Amino acid sequence: MQSIYYFSGTGNSLYIAKKLAENLDDCELIPVAKAWKEDDLTSKSEKIGLVFPLYYYGLPAIVYDFLDKFDLNSTEYIYAIVTSGAGGSGAALSQVKKLLKKQSKTLNAGFSIKMPANYIPLYDVPSEEKRLNTFEKSEEKLDKCLEIIKAEENKIKREPAKLIGKVANLYFRKKVNRKDKKLFADEKCNSCEICEKICPVNNINMVDGKPQWQHHCQLCLACLHFCPQEAIQYGKRTSKRRRYHHPQIKINEIINQK
Ligand SMILES: Cc1cc2nc3c(=O)[nH]c(=O)nc-3n(C[C@H](O)[C@H](O)[C@H](O)COP(=O)(O)O)c2cc1C
Ligand code: SF4
Ligand code: SF4
Repeated sequence: MQSIYYFSGTGNSLYIAKKLAENLDDCELIPVAKAWKEDDLTSKSEKIGLVFPLYYYGLPAIVYDFLDKFDLNSTEYIYAIVTSGAGGSGAALSQVKKLLKKQSKTLNAGFSIKMPANYIPLYDVPSEEKRLNTFEKSEEKLDKCLEIIKAEENKIKREPAKLIGKVANLYFRKKVNRKDKKLFADEKCNSCEICEKICPVNNINMVDGKPQWQHHCQLCLACLHFCPQEAIQYGKRTSKRRRYHHPQIKINEIINQK
């Protein structure tokens, strides 16, 4: 029995997790957003995969907190795949290693896969041509990861975690819950309630037909990218930028991760 735990805002990590699960024997997919609410966080699998996006050079806060509580006692082989816009893994793999070490476990294999960047508060979504190119290369990379995972080899991508990345990620995780202060719905909002449904951590309540953010945000940007009206903005710069979600991941798959 093997399990893959994933977290995903716009579907890149979920797509990778699904492809892995399809190609591995007897493998279940478990959303971190659902799992971390359980009282008993104990692994029942011999082989565990973790798939998540890179946030500010490191782990998303929810993934960090989950791993800190997750009891991996009966697990023998652990691997992690980080999806990121630039293609690196920053401090994420060394953070996973450190968290596992606390329970005398090792990260056996760790990889990063470049996927389309979704952080539109900073930059626009890549062009369609670039996205297609990225998808093509990601499939090749995924095949290589699969070979290693199937053979249960020990192989971790060597990437020195720079101090600046570790500090940036620590600061991000500390502040992330209140980052939603910059999220708002503009006049295009038609009260469809999709943002409330899609938020993996139930951070949105509809009040008088408009979303209100409750300050326990993970900044996954699912609400912003999946809003059918493109009405959700983050600060001043996102109104003219494109929206993105993985083309093969349906909205219900993101909704169902909690
Ligand atoms: C809050 C946030 C921070 C991000 N930080 C980084 C980063 O430091 N480096 C990077 O290459 N990509 C960064 N990205 C881009 C995502 O890692 C990338 O698009 C990822 O594949 C998204 O995965 P998902 O679709 O499963 O949510 C960031 C995205 C978000 C939302
Ligand atoms: S998803 Fe968009 S249109 Fe629908 S309620 Fe939320 S902000 Fe409004
Ligand atoms: S409020 Fe939006 S950005 Fe924050 S966790 Fe929910 S879906 Fe993600």
